[in-house]
Amino acid sequence: MTQETQRKQRILSGIQPTGTFTLGNYIGAVRNWGVLQQEYECLYMVANLHALTVRQTPADLRQQTRQAAAMLLATGIDPKQSILFVQSHVPAHAELAWVLACNTQFGELSRMTQFKDKSAKHADNVNAGLFTYPALMAADILLYNADLVPVGADQKQHLELTRNVAQRFNNLYSPTFQLPEPYIPKTGARVMSLQEPEKKMSKSDTNANSYILMTDDADTILRKCKRAVTDSDGVVRSGEDKPGVTNLMSIYSALTGKDFASIEAEFQGQGYGVFKEAVAQSIIDVFSPIQQEYARILADKAYLDEVLQDGAQRAGRLAGRTLQKVYKKVGMLQL
Ligand code: AMP
Ligand code: TRP
Repeated sequence: MTQETQRKQRILSGIQPTGTFTLGNYIGAVRNWGVLQQEYECLYMVANLHALTVRQTPADLRQQTRQAAAMLLATGIDPKQSILFVQSHVPAHAELAWVLACNTQFGELSRMTQFKDKSAKHADNVNAGLFTYPALMAADILLYNADLVPVGADQKQHLELTRNVAQRFNNLYSPTFQLPEPYIPKTGARVMSLQEPEKKMSKSDTNANSYILMTDDADTILRKCKRAVTDSDGVVRSGEDKPGVTNLMSIYSALTGKDFASIEAEFQGQGYGVFKEAVAQSIIDVFSPIQQEYARILADKAYLDEVLQDGAQRAGRLAGRTLQKVYKKVGMLQL
C-alpha cells in the first residue's frame, strides 16, 4: 500500500471545562495536541458531560465550555485540520457509555484511583456518574476507534480500562473496536503542585499558589514561581530528595527543551532565586502569545460557535456509525 492510501492513524483526547487550564494541563496534554495534528487525524473534545460528576454552577459551566474551546484554538488546534467539538453536542457519547457500562465490572471501576481520590474529596456527593465515569471516557475513545490518546500520566489507568472493555466487547460480540494506546509525554507527564510537590498540580486545589493558570499574567506567574516550595540545600539538581526543585526543572525542561544536565550546569552556583526567575520567564514566553490569541478568539462568539457547530457535525457522523454497529451487535431492535 502506498503512503497516500493508508488511513492516517487517529487520535482522540478530551479535557474537562471545570476551570481555566493549568500549566499541568498544558505541558501534560494540550500542547502536544497541536503538534500531533500534522501527522494524525485528530479529534479534540471539551468533556462537559464528565464535568457533571462534580457539582457545577450551570452558568459557569456554559461559560467555561466556551473558554475551554477558545483556549484549545489559541494553543494551535486548527479546526480545519482537526475536529474540535463539545461532548454533549454528540449524543452518541452518552448512548455508547450506557452499553459500555453494562460491559464494565463493579470491581474494575472500584479500583480507579481517580474515583477514590474524588470521592474522598467530595464525600457529600459520591454519585453514580463519578463511579461510572471511565465507561463514558471509554465511549469517547471507542466511538472514533482512536489509535492513540494523548493524556497526562494520571489518565493511564482509565486508558487501560478502556482497552479491557474494548477487548471484552470484541471477544463477546465480534471485532468492533480498535484498542487505543496512551500517548504520554516523557517530560511533564505529571506536573506537580508548586506548594506540595508530592501532589499533582490541579486547578481544583484550594491554594491558588499551588498552580499556574494559562490565563495568569506575567506578574502572577513570577510571584507563584518565586513562592514555589524548594528545600534548604540551594543547589539546582534533580533527585527524589528534592521534589520541589525537580518539579521546577521538569517544567523548565519541558518548555525550553533543555535536559536536566544542561539545566544543572546553567544554574551552577546561582541559587534558587535566579533559577525560579528563569522558570517563570520560560512560562511567560510560552503563555503570552497564547493569551493574546485566546482573548481574540473568545471575543468572536460567532466564529467560535461556527467552529463548534462544524465540529459537532463531523464528529457526530463518525460516532453515529459506530453506535449503529454496536446497537446492532448487542441486539437493539432496528426499524
Ligand atoms: P483534566 O483537567 O483532569 O480534564 O485533565 C486534562 C488533561 O490534562 C489530561 O490529559 C490530564 O492527564 C492532563 N493533566 C491534568 N493535570 C496534569 C498535571 N498536573 N500534569 C500533567 N498532566 C496533567
Ligand atoms: N478524563 C479526562 C480527564 O479528566 C478527560 C477526558 C474525557 C478524556 N474523555 C476523554 C481524555 C477521552 C482522553 C480521552 O483528564
